[in-house]
Amino acid sequence: MISQTSVQRLKEMISSSNNIVFFGGAGVLTESGIKDFRSADGIYMMDYKYPPESVLSHTFYTKHTEEFFDFYRKYLCFPDAKPNSAHYKLAELEKQGKLKAVITQNVDGLHQRAGSKCVYELHGSALRNYCVKCGKFHDFDFVYRSQGIPECECGGTVKPDVVLYEESLDSDVIEGAVNAIANADMLIVAGTSLTVYPAAGFIRYYSGNNLVLINKDSTEKDDDFGLVIHGKVGEILSKT
Ligand code: OAD
Repeated sequence: MISQTSVQRLKEMISSSNNIVFFGGAGVLTESGIKDFRSADGIYMMDYKYPPESVLSHTFYTKHTEEFFDFYRKYLCFPDAKPNSAHYKLAELEKQGKLKAVITQNVDGLHQRAGSKCVYELHGSALRNYCVKCGKFHDFDFVYRSQGIPECECGGTVKPDVVLYEESLDSDVIEGAVNAIANADMLIVAGTSLTVYPAAGFIRYYSGNNLVLINKDSTEKDDDFGLVIHGKVGEILSKT
């Protein structure tokens, strides 16, 4: 049961803020029918022949490239997914000039599809793919529709521009995200277990008094937030 008092407080905070930043994760996708990673029914809880978290590592990608792509196409590609009410509400707040940036750990491009313009994709995007040999760009469909290891015309492997474990985040994206958080008058964190670094650590750059967490389950960081609402982010944001 969502606390109406908390939602009312959130509404007031949004209404009195003009430099809102949103920081989200896979929980933002579940209302679009996509599984997150660490919920009870999440991708990492599945019985898979390799520990799922290691499948998304650079080492696994290098050593078992074909199996990486099987997993990737099955669990990280969502050709039919559509933005949900969370995506649309954030795009609307940006249009009103109240929200300055969305920072996401997701790789699906749904924030942009909903209309958000300033989106920092900490873990890259499945919509961008590059040949490791000649650098040619390939779109989502090229990788999604190919069989086995996607291959460029030049013979090189086409690698998604998605940050795997053991790989670094893009420095311009980090800089943009950290600056946005540091300058924000309100930070809404939602749909993330806040367990994956460095991404989860970026919220410490926020120094204001309007720090909100909207998450279905509790996280280990709940105590760091001034306002915590346990519930679905799309449902809650659309009440504000
Ligand atoms: P997680 O799966 O770790 O956490 C998702 C959180 O969202 C959980 O705490 C859920 O309770 C919550 N949640 C689910 N549905 C929700 C909803 N409708 N509204 C609000 N909360 C909801 O996902 P992330 O924190 O994004 O990295 O995971 C971080 C990274 O781990 C991912 O970017 C990915 C993964 O390994 C890479 O692939 C590099």
